[in-house]
Amino acid sequence: MCGIVGYSGNEDAALLVMQSLKRLEYRGYDSWGIVSLSNNKLSSEKKVGRISEAKLSLPKSKIAIGHTRWATHGQVTKQNAHPHLGCKQKVAIVHNGIVENYLTLREGLLKKGHKFSGETDSEVIAHLIEDEKKKAIPFEKAVANAASKLDGSFAVVALDSETGSMVGIRKNSPLVLGIGKGNSFFLASDVNAFLKHTKKVIFLEDNDLVLLKGHHASFFDFKSMKKLKKKEVEVKWSSEEAEKMGFKHFMLKEIFEQPEKAIATMEGRLVAGKVVLPEFEKILKKANSFNRIIFLGCGTAFYAGLVQKYLFEELCRIPVEAEYASEFRYRNPVVGKKDLVIAISQSGETADTLAAIREAKAKGATLVSIVNVVDSTIARESDSVLYTRAGPEIGVASTKAFTCQLVAIAMLAIAFAVKRKAVSKSKAASLVASLKKLPVLMQETLEEKAVIKAIASKYSKKTNALFLGRGHNYPIALEGALKLKEISYIHAEAMPAAEMKHGPIALIDKEMPVVFIAIRDQTYEKVLSNVEEVKARAGKVIVVTDKGNTVLEEMVDDTIFVPKSEELLQPIINVIPMQLLAYYVADKRGCDVDKPRNLAKSVTVE
Ligand code: M6R
Repeated sequence: MCGIVGYSGNEDAALLVMQSLKRLEYRGYDSWGIVSLSNNKLSSEKKVGRISEAKLSLPKSKIAIGHTRWATHGQVTKQNAHPHLGCKQKVAIVHNGIVENYLTLREGLLKKGHKFSGETDSEVIAHLIEDEKKKAIPFEKAVANAASKLDGSFAVVALDSETGSMVGIRKNSPLVLGIGKGNSFFLASDVNAFLKHTKKVIFLEDNDLVLLKGHHASFFDFKSMKKLKKKEVEVKWSSEEAEKMGFKHFMLKEIFEQPEKAIATMEGRLVAGKVVLPEFEKILKKANSFNRIIFLGCGTAFYAGLVQKYLFEELCRIPVEAEYASEFRYRNPVVGKKDLVIAISQSGETADTLAAIREAKAKGATLVSIVNVVDSTIARESDSVLYTRAGPEIGVASTKAFTCQLVAIAMLAIAFAVKRKAVSKSKAASLVASLKKLPVLMQETLEEKAVIKAIASKYSKKTNALFLGRGHNYPIALEGALKLKEISYIHAEAMPAAEMKHGPIALIDKEMPVVFIAIRDQTYEKVLSNVEEVKARAGKVIVVTDKGNTVLEEMVDDTIFVPKSEELLQPIINVIPMQLLAYYVADKRGCDVDKPRNLAKSVTVE
């Protein structure tokens, strides 16, 4: 949701900002822009389209800021692209977030004689800072004063041509400082922007302001302008992890990384037949005090909660709900001390999830999270965090983060069930053994890629699709439909298989591909009846079933075989064909798989 970068150091700043923006492009790719400072003058270059396809013509400089946009307010035009400059062209800003009161602020600034060149909410920030500067106060104070007038969320990097300083400031939007060689600095929306140059970072928190002047960084609370001491940490991700490594797309690479990332997520956490989660000891001690568990997340992360609701209830015998974070927050939920809220998020920055967890916390719930990005806002605001170790996920469509979330929640459920004495030690040990076997089964599933690619090619021209499953495979059907929609733009719907006959069956004809997840488990016979119902109406049936199910293979149009796992863990296997099917369909249709239209990786606005 917009990528912002600033650089201050000894190298060609505009070039470094451009390279860093290219690595952040998954956050937004409507338009881009860079402003650099040389000879006390700001020079600007802005373009509609993708930065990955662009060349730069800015003069060399030591300090620059840049932005890659995912439009919220104002169309995709050069004028609306960031950076935005004040009237006197002495202040430039880049912004990620939403200024909710921008219309009122804009009106006030217009009355004072400011002239605007675009329609974005962000442009008011440049003019507000310019206005504050008239008070002859330090630049950082002018930025802080301007920020205090903003309602909504922001990560802003501002550049001042008069003092040659750069200021970063944040509230409810991510911003991280990278400390490079010779005290050069990067400011960016996430670490992927500068991993090639440094792994030493300082994560800014809400209300933090950082001033970069020469080779110095100083930190303040922008509300009080009190100086702050910040902790430097080392990021474990490698810069290679954020490269395609020979794969055509990041999404494909990330699908194929899943066995390895599942192993990483389990590493050190499954010991001698037990789940060992030191980060959760405090919460697990209270395992018997909770009456209910609520999973919160958005999109794919929400589906992870929906899948594991089945497993958690089965193992722990405790009521579990999974809710869209975006809905939870706005319905005055009944939640309190006896609830354990589990937030799920790859980025740890999703605005809807953040708002929901704050609501739950304010009402007294215990809050834990399953997060991929270390030290992200959701992670920091949780009572305990269980990190998935998926590494950087660059493809906009979430894949490896999802399977790692499922693995992490499964571990948590086993540990929880043991504490609540809801499962025997031997059952827990057998589940742990099944978890350990998963990566091999995931690898086996990936080996079906040629079959899945051929099926994808056969159906790639269709305009609609249905995905059906039962029990914990229903959310996997939802995930299959979401993957197909977001990267191939084919309209897809998912529902519990039995629900089809209550209406959607009217859609079935020879043009409608229906993907069934039909593993030989307790609901198999029922799903089989639903397959027959589709066949009877000339629909095209593609099934995902367990190896050796030749009876079903003969009944349907296309079959994808997967290995069988412990039933409670089977969704972790079943989702892989869904991901590959969507990928190969989208690729065949010539879609931009890693950067689907209208989307952005991390949705940091509500
Ligand atoms: O970073 P998060 O996991 O909080 O993101 C949640 C959703 O925005 C995300 O899963 C989205 O639905 C993906 N594009 C799905 O592939």
